[in-house]
Amino acid sequence: MKIIVPATSANIGPGFDSVGVAVSKYLTIEVLEEREAWLIEHDLNPRIPKDKRNLLIKVALQIAPDLKPHRLKMTSDIPLARGLGSSSSVIVAGIELANQLAQLNLTKEEKLRIATKSEGHPDNVAPAIFGGLVVSSYVRGRVSAVEADFPQASFIAFIPRYELKTRDSRGVLPFKFSYKEAVAASSIANVAIAALLKGDMETAGRAIESDLFHERFRQKLVREFPAIKKIARKNGAYATYLSGAGPTVMVLAPTNKAQAIQSRLEKAHFKGEIFELSVDRQGVRVEE
Ligand code: HSE
Repeated sequence: MKIIVPATSANIGPGFDSVGVAVSKYLTIEVLEEREAWLIEHDLNPRIPKDKRNLLIKVALQIAPDLKPHRLKMTSDIPLARGLGSSSSVIVAGIELANQLAQLNLTKEEKLRIATKSEGHPDNVAPAIFGGLVVSSYVRGRVSAVEADFPQASFIAFIPRYELKTRDSRGVLPFKFSYKEAVAASSIANVAIAALLKGDMETAGRAIESDLFHERFRQKLVREFPAIKKIARKNGAYATYLSGAGPTVMVLAPTNKAQAIQSRLEKAHFKGEIFELSVDRQGVRVEE
C-alpha cells in the first residue's frame, strides 16, 4: 500500500491561515511488512528520525495507539521548510496511515479536524486532504472548510536554497491590528476569494498582491521577492505571492505566458530552483 499526499501553497496573498491549494509535488509513504519496531527508510534530511520519533508515526499513534509497527519507505520531492507544506503532508500521511492500518474509515472532515488541531491552522492540511483550492477557518476549536476548483492558471514556483522556519516567519508578524486595518485586510481577502471562485484571475491577482495581513511584514525575509514580482508583472503574470510562510515565491500566470515568465526568471540567476507546478485536484490518496 502507498499513501500519497500533495504539496500545498497556503495563504495565496490575503488568505492568511485560511486559503490553500494542492500542487504537484508529493510525499509518498510505502507501507511494507510488520516488524518489532517502526522503521522509516528515507534519503531525506538526516535530521528526520527513522523510528517512532518521526512526526508521521507520532501523529498515527496519537490516533491509534495500538498500531503494529511496520517498515515504511518515505520519499518526497516537497522541499523542507520552504513554504510548500512539507510538515502538513507528513501530518496528513500519518492520519491516513492510522486510518488504513486501524481501519478507522475516517471521513475527510474528520481527517481535517485532526490535522488542523495538530498543525494549528487549516490552510495547508485542508488542500492536502481535499485537493484543489480550499478556503477554511479554525476558530475556537471549530474547523469549517469549503472546497473549490482553482481557475485555469499556471503556478511558477521559485524555491530558494535557504530554509525559513514557519516559527521565524510568524515571529515578524504584528500582535495587534486596528479595527480599520482588519476591515481593510479582510475586504481584500473577500475580493480575492470571490474572484478566484468566479474564475476572474485578473481581479484575483490584484487582490492577491494587495494583501495586508502578512506579506508586507515578511518580505524582508525573502530577498528575491520584489525582483521576482517585478519580472512577473512585466511579463503578464496575474500575481506573485509568498507561498505559505515562505521562502518560496509563487507566480500565478496565464498558461500561455508561463513559459516566457519561467525563462525570464531563469535568466535572472536567482539562487534556487524554478518549477512550473499544476493543481492537484485529488488530495491524499491510497494506492494498493
Ligand atoms: N498560514 C501559515 C503562515 C502557513 O503563513 O504562517 C505556514 O504554516
